[in-house]
Order: sequence, then structure tokens, then C-alpha cells
Amino acid sequence: MNIAVTGIGYVGLVAAACLSDGGHHVICVDKDRKKIDGLKKNIIPIYEPGLTELVQRNSKAQRLCFTTDLSYGVQNSDIIIVGVGTPSSPDGSADISAVLDVSRNIAQIIKKPKVIVTKSTVPVGTYKIITDLVSSITDVPFHYVSNPEFLKEGSAVEDFLKPDRVIIGTSSDYARQAMQQVYAPFMRKSNRIIFMEPASAEMSKYASNAMLATRISFMNELSALCDTFGANIEMVRKGIGSDSRIGNSFLFAGVGFGGSCFPKDVRALIHMGDKQNCPMSIAQSVLDANYKQHERFAGKILDFFKGKENKTTLAVWGLAFKAKTDDIRESPAIWCIEKFLDAGFKIKAYDPEAMPAAKEKFGSRIQLAEYDYDVLESADALVVFTDWQEFRGPDFETIKKTLSEPLIFDGRNLYEPEYLAKLGFKYFSIGRPQ
Ligand code: UGA
Repeated sequence: MNIAVTGIGYVGLVAAACLSDGGHHVICVDKDRKKIDGLKKNIIPIYEPGLTELVQRNSKAQRLCFTTDLSYGVQNSDIIIVGVGTPSSPDGSADISAVLDVSRNIAQIIKKPKVIVTKSTVPVGTYKIITDLVSSITDVPFHYVSNPEFLKEGSAVEDFLKPDRVIIGTSSDYARQAMQQVYAPFMRKSNRIIFMEPASAEMSKYASNAMLATRISFMNELSALCDTFGANIEMVRKGIGSDSRIGNSFLFAGVGFGGSCFPKDVRALIHMGDKQNCPMSIAQSVLDANYKQHERFAGKILDFFKGKENKTTLAVWGLAFKAKTDDIRESPAIWCIEKFLDAGFKIKAYDPEAMPAAKEKFGSRIQLAEYDYDVLESADALVVFTDWQEFRGPDFETIKKTLSEPLIFDGRNLYEPEYLAKLGFKYFSIGRPQ
């Protein structure tokens, strides 16, 4: 099939590369000329395992191309996927202005019937705003689809190629068949497409992210209660996760969730509830508990060094909001580092992928090191924020020798408290007896 993807951000680029890998001809459209020129030369603007190979292979096979010309993309495609961003507005609602701009431009361009697909995360009811907008501009018939994306940063390619499910929200039989064809290459083992009307598709996206965030906040709040009783949140996780009704995923207590999706989408759900006079009190608590978790972790460190802030250097491992990404948006590490800097601490930090983003964010306010062990020199404690694989089995002897005292604050429960105690470390983690 011939597909145009507009908005070559995270979701748009991964979707376009994967769809082309499924044999479709995909035109990527973005107004950022620098990004498009780079992609034409196989310069990938984000870090995502497997993406570079996919873009290279499919560009070479001429199934994937890049342009800033929306008209070219629209005229040469049957299906137009909109994947532009919907950032948080100051009031917490999702800002859909970019989605509306692109939809307006598409309406002004189409000459033949098309399937218009919204992949961006948009508030429930947006399908109506877009269909009304497009129909007010053009008489050319079109078929509207809400097709939310569920891929995770760090495993986005894998998630797209082998999805748990694909949600297609449409009231058009034609669009249903067309979308079945779009996803057919990824449904060879079993058909995991779920059809529904657009409002339910839009709601499913928010419900999914908010449900996962709820699990995490619940575990994080329990971890604080575990601390008060001397219980171990890791044992509790195993104890409840083995119940198949609960399942094992997304139950890891830590420093709190971050990224460009969970906080933004939970906020947007709360805003939708307020607007509909149907308060989302659970979602509000999920968000509150998340900030409390950041505060609790930062608070442990601030309390430990109280009165010595100006003489203390913290060695930080991990800046990205989770492993396998260079994304620092709403990263708990960034939130906590701001608190440490305000208090007067010196920060030396390392992250395998997120250093350029951190440099842009902090400039010379923190010191960035090229290697993980470099940050330990003349530091007073190691603080672990991100669950990168390379932080899981470090050389504790070197850490002990290099730090001014053997002290670790672990926001991801990566190490065994008993083992660290045996090695002579003072070790603080999340919801586990020291
Ligand atoms: C999330 C969803 O998982 C995707 O399905 C969705 O498509 C995406 O948002 C989106 O809306 O675009 P992502 O933000 O990439 O994906 O990251 P996750 O792997 O979900 O992690 C989110 C945060 O929760 C991270 O800070 C992570 O460290 C934290 N987390 C995750 C925990 O603290 N504990 C866990 O058990 C799992």
C-alpha cells in the first residue's frame, strides 16, 4: 500500500520504518528540513535499538523516502497517518494544535478519497473535531481512523513489528479493510486487530497508560509503607505478581515514572475528567504519588547530607527516564538533580545515551563524564537513577575504593542489600530493609 506519515517524531519515524519493512511504500513528511535532510543521509535523530538498520534497509530498497512536501506525500498515498506531537498545555490538557494544523493542510490538498489516520495521542472526542474540520474545508470524501500507538521507547521497533494488539477506531467499512491490509504483515501468527468506534479507541490509549502508571504508583506508595514495617517490596512484588490476575509486569517500585507519555497522558485524563465534570480521582492520586516518590528519594539524600550540602559531590548514574533511551523528558533523575543543585550539591553524571540531552539541559551546572567510573572520583556517594543494563553488575571494589566513602543510593533496586552490606557499603534502596 502507499502510505504517508506526517510528523516524523518518535512514533511517526518508528511507524514509518516498520510499515516500510512490512512491504508498504511509505513517504515520511515533516516540516523540519534539517531532520528530513539528515534522514535522507540515514542520520537518525533519536536513539532507538534497531531503528537505524530498518531505516537504512528500507530507504535502500526505495520503500521509504523523506520529504518536507506534504502535498507530494498526500497525492501519492492512499492512507495518511498523522503522528505529530500533542504536548501538555499549562493546564494539563493535551495541546492538539499540531494535529489540527496537519489535518487542515491535508483537507486543503486532497483531490481523491483518502483514509486519514490519527496516531497521535489525542483527547477523547478529537475524532469529531477533526472530521468536522476536514469536512468544512473539502467535499472530497474521506474515511477517518483513530489508531493509537502503544510502542515503548527502547523496544519501539520490536513493539511495532510484534504488537500485543492494534486498535482501529473507525465507523467506515472501507477504512476497516484498508487498515487490515496495512497491519497484515505484522499479524501473521494471529490477528490481534481490535476494531471499535473512534471514541473508544481514543479512550483506550489514555486508559492503557493511566492503568500502567497506576500500578507503578501503587507499588511506589507500598514501598514507602514497606519501609515503615521493615518489609521488602521486591518480595511483595513477587508475591502478588504470581497471581495471574495481577501479572508480573509494571510492578517495579523505583524513583517514580517519567518520560513523554505517562505524566502527560495522566494529566490529560485528569483534565478530560474535570471538563466532563467526572473527576478522575484515581488518576490524580497516581500523579501525586509519583511526585511524592521523587521527593522521598531525593529527600533521603538531602537528609543524609544535611548541613554538608556545599561540601558534597554526588556521582550520578543514569539521566534518561528509563534504560535504552536518550530521552530525559520528565525524567525523575532530572527532577532530583535540580533539587540537589538548589541545595548546593556538586553533581557529576554519566548516562550511556542521554549525555547530549543533559548537556543541553544543564550546561555547565553539572559535570558530565565520559565513562561510568569517572564520575566516582572525589564523589561522596553514588546515586543510581536509571536501570541501564551496564549499571546492574558493577565492580563494587572499584566503586568502594574511588568514592570518599562506600555509600550508594539506588533508585531502581538494582543491587542486593545483604551483599552490599557484606562488602561494607552503606546502601539505601526503595522499600527494602537496609
Ligand atoms: C509508555 C507505554 O508503556 C507505551 O505502551 C506507550 O505507547 C507509550 O508510553 C506512549 O504513550 O507513547 P514509555 O513512556 O516509552 O511507554 O515507557 P515505559 O516503559 O512504559 O516506562 C514509563 C516509566 O515507568 C519509566 O520511567 C519507567 O522507568 C517506569 N516504570 C516502568 C517503573 O517505574 N516501574 C515499572 O515496573 C515499569
